[in-house]
Amino acid sequence: MTELGSAGRFLVEYTADLGSRLGHRPLAYVHSYGCQQNVSDGERIMGQLAAVGYGFTKEPSEASLILLNTCAVRENAEDRVFGNLGGFKKLKEKDPGLLIGICGCMAQQEHIAEKIKESYRYVDLVFGTFAGGDLYSMLRKVIEDKERVFNLSEKPSDIDGDFVQLRESSFRAYVPIMYGCNNFCTYCIVPYVRGRERSRSPESVISEVRKLVADGYKEITLLGQNVNSYSYGFPALLRSVNEIEGDFRIRFMSSHPKDASDELIDAILGCEKVCKQLHLPLQAGSDRILKAMNRSYTVERYLGIVDKIRSRAPEFSLTTDIIVGFPGETYEEFCMTKDIIRRVKYDNIYSFVYSRRTGTPAAKLEDKISDKQKGLWLRELLLEQRETSSEWLARFVGRTARVLVEGEGRTSPEHLTGKNDEGIIVEFVGGRELIGQFVDVKITKAMNWALSGELII
Ligand code: SAH
Ligand code: SF4
Ligand code: F3S
Repeated sequence: MTELGSAGRFLVEYTADLGSRLGHRPLAYVHSYGCQQNVSDGERIMGQLAAVGYGFTKEPSEASLILLNTCAVRENAEDRVFGNLGGFKKLKEKDPGLLIGICGCMAQQEHIAEKIKESYRYVDLVFGTFAGGDLYSMLRKVIEDKERVFNLSEKPSDIDGDFVQLRESSFRAYVPIMYGCNNFCTYCIVPYVRGRERSRSPESVISEVRKLVADGYKEITLLGQNVNSYSYGFPALLRSVNEIEGDFRIRFMSSHPKDASDELIDAILGCEKVCKQLHLPLQAGSDRILKAMNRSYTVERYLGIVDKIRSRAPEFSLTTDIIVGFPGETYEEFCMTKDIIRRVKYDNIYSFVYSRRTGTPAAKLEDKISDKQKGLWLRELLLEQRETSSEWLARFVGRTARVLVEGEGRTSPEHLTGKNDEGIIVEFVGGRELIGQFVDVKITKAMNWALSGELII
């Protein structure tokens, strides 16, 4: 439990006072965009707010505090935030006491903070990815001194503490093990907004997982921008977490091919709680573009990793990230990416049209292909994947899958949805009381995005 400190105690009084005027606990609307790392940061922010008396709402118009925890990875992520922000102006006009804040990756960028300072004057608080630990003092300054606060500090904060977190799920938990990125892929903003790599101590990670398992959590996802660059040794950490007693499974995100070592493959295959699945972001299928991206592997090395895994586990589940239309990429080079998709057979791909990010080296490169054209390439890629995956997912038909039930399904109101060990969506008919539990499902059908089956009782 974090000490509240004087700023925290000030906020406890503030929320109590506000609450008695409102007739209920003041509510906060906290929305996290982007990756799991950001969602996890958002859970920590919500934990801090709950500790000083805030409740939560999913409806901005009910909120006394709005906080958008933003993502900067692609332009459309940023556009969405500015779009939503526009709508909050009216809320602030109606209730001048409403506090509005922007935090996270987008807010860490100087030019974005400037834009908010000049053009979004109703935003009270802007802070980046390092300053979350100072939330109480920043809010106090906004409330007591009626000042707008901009905090773009890059001072790494404590990452080993025992933080209060308000987790969205009661059975699936994110556990960050490292923060930041040292790789500087030429297209990517992450190293600029998240700083250099910092790893949590194994003791602190293991003690958090132990507590989560004791609290009934069934799925633990270890997180990092490059989770396998964990400086105390990722395969060893996987083995230690695997030794924790209890009925739970272990996932991890996101792994970089450069650290997909033999030891990592041994640990995944050798630890019974570790899901047999690996996210191995390829990004592009030609050596020329990989080099221009500064990805530090060649197609040959990448396929070597794939072959090594598949020689030991022929149906091993792989997923990937692809960028379509990096500056200078030709159609022929794009087709090489398609070839790899056909060759590797991924269960799922996350593909994006290249987005120019201010401040990255690739932003200065000449880019002759239009976004419209790139959109067509992306469609082509997705068609390729759909064809490959509907055949590839058929390997599960007739088998029994262990599924952690996550919630209501998409197929019909009677359906539930969950994921098998390989991380593939499984839909089946079952009662709501199964949500949060492991069940066995006999797989009867493979679609291109998911599996369906029958509950085995
Ligand atoms: N650290 C992870 C990726 C984090 S960002 C890794 O290296 O694998 C998640 C994904 O967003 C990336 O894998 C990449 O495919 C995509 N991405 C990052 N920057 C991008 C950009 N400028 N334009 C389009 N996609 C981008
Ligand atoms: Fe971005 Fe590359 Fe770091 Fe991944 S490894 S976060 S793509 S710079
Ligand atoms: Fe986005 Fe930041 Fe994650 S840029 S993808 S929220 S690290």
